[in-house]
Amino acid sequence: MNLVLLGAPGAGKGTQAAVIKQKTGMYILSTGNLLREAVKAGTELGNRVKGLLDSGSLVPDELVIQLVDEKLKSSECANGVIFDGFPRTVKQAEKLDELTKIDKVLVFDVPDDAIVERMSLRRTCPDCQSTYHLKVLPTKIEGICDKCGGKLYTRSDDEPAVVRHRLDVYHEQTEPIINYYRASGRVVTVDGTQAPDKVSEDTLSAVEAVL
Ligand code: AP5
Repeated sequence: MNLVLLGAPGAGKGTQAAVIKQKTGMYILSTGNLLREAVKAGTELGNRVKGLLDSGSLVPDELVIQLVDEKLKSSECANGVIFDGFPRTVKQAEKLDELTKIDKVLVFDVPDDAIVERMSLRRTCPDCQSTYHLKVLPTKIEGICDKCGGKLYTRSDDEPAVVRHRLDVYHEQTEPIINYYRASGRVVTVDGTQAPDKVSEDTLSAVEAVL
């Protein structure tokens, strides 16, 4: 089974991807995490995309499609993939349908105003990429990742002005994908404004319906 998680930046895709992984053992393929790892490692790809990530603009389709194509060939993806942050354009969605079968698309619905506040309170682990929220999903020890002990940081693209640009990019370039998938009856919408546990409950019900 392969799933796509769609939704605005900060809608909770990464949080719910971790919940689905824990339940099913599926692999999380997050293009955002792969790109941030490339930036951190200082690879040629990383140097090419750093400015785009910092400004909240999309990386060219060809680069991310190549990244996903290569990753899909690895054994990690054999037991099913949760796509987090990919596809982000209709072109990427069409290409993904050529590369593999997508069974369900979960759309996390959260209004823009709630997103801007959420992002300012998000903290991310640079080592295992887990995300927390200072109020709603705090760590046990302040500033330290519960899962791996990494020292949490604030992503450069979580600054309010960049978040607003990312939301514009989402509405213009990514939202049209929802209709692309709706046309083939693959969309389930989850109310992402609920408490995280309730969002997880709805998410897992949608996933279990496909299993
Ligand atoms: P990416 O890393 O994919 O970022 P994103 O889609 O903008 O999503 P986020 O990781 O910011 O948010 P999320 O939905 O995972 O939310 P989270 O669970 O953390 O992409 C970054 C950049 O990479 C892009 O801007 C682009 O430049 C590039 N890129 C990546 N993929 C690309 C592609 N395919 N094509 C082109 N370019 C690409 O939750 C957010 C916060 O809310 C956390 O603090 C969390 O704890 C909290 N939270 C979670 N659930 C709840 C809840 N129910 N209630 C309250 N708070 C909650």
